[in-house]
Amino acid sequence: MLMDQNIDKKIYEVGWEVINSSQFDNLKILRNNIYKIITEEFNYNEQNPEIGLNNFHKILSELSDTDLNQKKVNVIQKISSDNSLVDLIFESFAKEIEEMLGKDLLVQKTINLVIQAPKDLNPTIPHRDAPPNSYFELVLWIPLVDCKDTKSMYTIDMSSTKNALDELEKNPDDWDSFINKFKDKKNYPNVKFGQALFFLPYIYHGSDTNNTNETRFSLNIRFKALFSPSGKKFPLHFFRLFKVSELTKLALNKIKDEGLE
Ligand SMILES: [Fe+2]
Repeated sequence: MLMDQNIDKKIYEVGWEVINSSQFDNLKILRNNIYKIITEEFNYNEQNPEIGLNNFHKILSELSDTDLNQKKVNVIQKISSDNSLVDLIFESFAKEIEEMLGKDLLVQKTINLVIQAPKDLNPTIPHRDAPPNSYFELVLWIPLVDCKDTKSMYTIDMSSTKNALDELEKNPDDWDSFINKFKDKKNYPNVKFGQALFFLPYIYHGSDTNNTNETRFSLNIRFKALFSPSGKKFPLHFFRLFKVSELTKLALNKIKDEGLE
């Protein structure tokens, strides 16, 4: 019976949910810090992060593809090497993350940053992260600007994911009918800055060409319970220990004291 508790949460039913940050100030600090890295790298002098990020495509047209890719890589490296940014993400959604995963946590080593300019022809095809990732991961997609419609990403509910997988099993080589199954099943959650889309790694998701006239900036990162099964990838390549409960801390120290590690 205990296993039926908490089923009221939308994410447990459909596989995704938009969650409000309980620490909006932390998200603002996060965005300011990331914006500073971006403006320095791109020599961008717009002061207001919201205006600057939404209109970022206006400076992209002045850059060659090689320059743009190099600058993107530099920004992602700088963001990912700053662990305080991960702390800000966690603190912004700590209550919900701990409610879902507990207090012994791993976090993905890199924070992914995705820039999707209007009409950018590099959408992400529908895919699931698990497998090969662990089914026990929780994915957080955090926009730095308000996102809706095709400026947002899309999710496919748990039940439609199952139907699509059944279709794939029947016709494993028929990619078109598989894609057709998704056509009218895409949800483009309305996710404002101050919120995050939480989703389960085994639902299909992706993004289409951004048909709005604003650029989307979004972060994504994964959390996982420390004592949960790994996926097919070696976990410590992608995750690092993030937080442990008092009980786990005591037990780990005790094991070390007694020479059992
Ligand atoms: Fe994904």
